[in-house]
Amino acid sequence: MDPIIAATHTDPYSYYASLRAAGGLTFDPQLNLWIASSAEAVCAVLRHPACVVRPAHEPVPKAIAEGPAGRVFGRLMRMNEGEPQRCPKAAIAPGLQAIDRQQVEALVKARFLKDGAEGLHQAQFIGPTSVVAALLGFNPADSRLISELTGDFVACLSPLSDATQLDAAHRATEQLLTFFRERIEAQDNPLLARIGQGFADADTNSLIANLIGLLSQTYEATAGLIGNALLALIRDPALPHTLRADPTQISPLLVEVQRLDPSVQNTRRFVIAPCEILGAMLNPGDAVLVLLASANRDPQLNPQPDVLLLERPNRRSFSFGTGHHECPGQALALGIAHATLDILVERAPRLDRLAWRYRPSINARIPLFSDRPVAKAR
Ligand code: HEM
Repeated sequence: MDPIIAATHTDPYSYYASLRAAGGLTFDPQLNLWIASSAEAVCAVLRHPACVVRPAHEPVPKAIAEGPAGRVFGRLMRMNEGEPQRCPKAAIAPGLQAIDRQQVEALVKARFLKDGAEGLHQAQFIGPTSVVAALLGFNPADSRLISELTGDFVACLSPLSDATQLDAAHRATEQLLTFFRERIEAQDNPLLARIGQGFADADTNSLIANLIGLLSQTYEATAGLIGNALLALIRDPALPHTLRADPTQISPLLVEVQRLDPSVQNTRRFVIAPCEILGAMLNPGDAVLVLLASANRDPQLNPQPDVLLLERPNRRSFSFGTGHHECPGQALALGIAHATLDILVERAPRLDRLAWRYRPSINARIPLFSDRPVAKAR
């Protein structure tokens, strides 16, 4: 095991505990990475001004820098520091936080879900991004297409993608740009208008890039939250009954799953100035792998960290990050996942008929479900 393989390993959590026991911030010479595994180290790195989101020599990954996906990537708040992060965040976060939960629920519930693994795929990957597209004013057919294009775009964020996937990401970016240009011109959506007001007129490229960013940030992370909540139901067969009998338990389940088995297992920071963090000396050019999932299970952060507890007083979690890059979509993600789980639980799916494996990734923990072949009756 290593801290990157851990993201998609069946049980990375005892390994994370061994990393914490060896020291919260240690250097891994094989990976050439600092590894932050304790809650204290994760918090210190994410809040340190000398630890930034992109390496100084490569603000945009070389593999995509020359195409439209690279130009969008280079404008994302998630991938920037200073004004190019602060301005889009200030323009977008208040609008996201004001989204009405009932509107989200209605949008999720308006979509028909097929039974079995196909329905789960829709619920995890198509549904959440379609909801965000619909909130920005796209009609249902376009929202679905936009969701699929976002699936192609997010490939440009992963170093595991091959040339064909990167080509598809560039093509999808062109289409997303056209969709958003037309949407902005229509001037008929209150959320988009509110967000647009926060951007200067000359900043349309940044506005559109960061709207695409909302879709791409939703796509994998929310798929993982929904999938990992389903895995919790598969692992504890009493849970589906508990939730069906008392749907108010869906919220506590989701917030506990996002702590216990988060969809974003790690993130990275790059050191731009010499600094000392928890007694370790870090130098410009160093990179830190920040194990959010390990910090959540640090007993210093949460007592009984390895147990799924619906009633957990003062639950603390790094699953949505911390510091100035903290996720502005947390409430929206939980709202979408809640409405989705509500439908799935109500339908009493045959969870025993599902097989699953994690989607290959260096940081996201997203189960993909398939239907088990039904044994033929003799
Ligand atoms: C379960 C679902 C989600 C999870 C686990 C999640 C997690 C995260 C994390 C960990 C970060 C910080 C990354 C870092 O500091 O390196 C982040 C940032 C971000 N997230 Fe989310 N996210 C989720 C859903 C969403 C949704 C639904 C949206 C918007 C519609 C969103 C928008 C963003 C944006 C724009 C950023 C960048 C913020 C910045 O750089 O200032 N996320 N998210």
